[in-house]
Amino acid sequence: TLFHELTGISKKEQQLKAALKINQVIIVPSDIEQDVSTYALIGKEAASIVMQKAQPNCKIAVTGGTSVSSIGPYLQPHKALQNAQFIAARGGIGDEITMQANTLVAQFAEQCHATYRTLFLPEHLSEQAYSAMKDEPIVKEMIELYDNINIVIHGIGDAMEMADRRQSSEEDKQLLLEKGAIGEAFGYYFDEQGQIVHHIRTIGIQLEQVQQSDCIIAIAAGASKAKSVQAYFKNPVRNTIFITDESAANAILENL
Ligand code: F6P
Repeated sequence: TLFHELTGISKKEQQLKAALKINQVIIVPSDIEQDVSTYALIGKEAASIVMQKAQPNCKIAVTGGTSVSSIGPYLQPHKALQNAQFIAARGGIGDEITMQANTLVAQFAEQCHATYRTLFLPEHLSEQAYSAMKDEPIVKEMIELYDNINIVIHGIGDAMEMADRRQSSEEDKQLLLEKGAIGEAFGYYFDEQGQIVHHIRTIGIQLEQVQQSDCIIAIAAGASKAKSVQAYFKNPVRNTIFITDESAANAILENL
């Protein structure tokens, strides 16, 4: 838009897209850390991308978090979303029910008259529990669904903040620190070089499954997330559309 041109945002979008090596970047003006109404701008943009990219019968995997949850209010019944299925990308997380993938898929589906699939499992599974769980028919079905996802919508967070939210043990947090974990997305923790330094053992979408989907919508904003976002995009996933705010965009461009 003209506003975009005049404020230099479209130039920043191009710069960021090239730096992160992804398909598209959308920057909303303002700073999420100063003004919470920025979530609405982000949610609106993300919802319109979802409606643009959706195909009849598409399967859309959704992670939890505040950024992803901002989409809900802006999804509307849409031809392309007829028979769409929103699928929780992972089991539960801590106590924050309103930000869980399970809650979000139900909200999203209700907004646009689509269907949804939830997966209620503890965030951390022991090795034994994990291998037993994998053979459960319902879990098997979910794992198969993850193999056939068309669109992934996910947040990116700060590694230590996510460990806190997930009520990880002190021992695990120490390990993450030692390994230099800086960013987190769908249960994977990344260091500054983008190496996976930890992966939560639970049933959920795997990195390979994210990579093979047709379209990935990543949402993260605020300058404090700049380092986490950069770490995550060290392994750019093709077909990603990154939606962010101007303060994160500025911070990332300054770090380059
Ligand atoms: O817990 C789900 C999740 O998408 C994480 O993978 C991510 O790090 C985090 O939420 C982002 O949360 P928020 O958008 O609230 O910062």
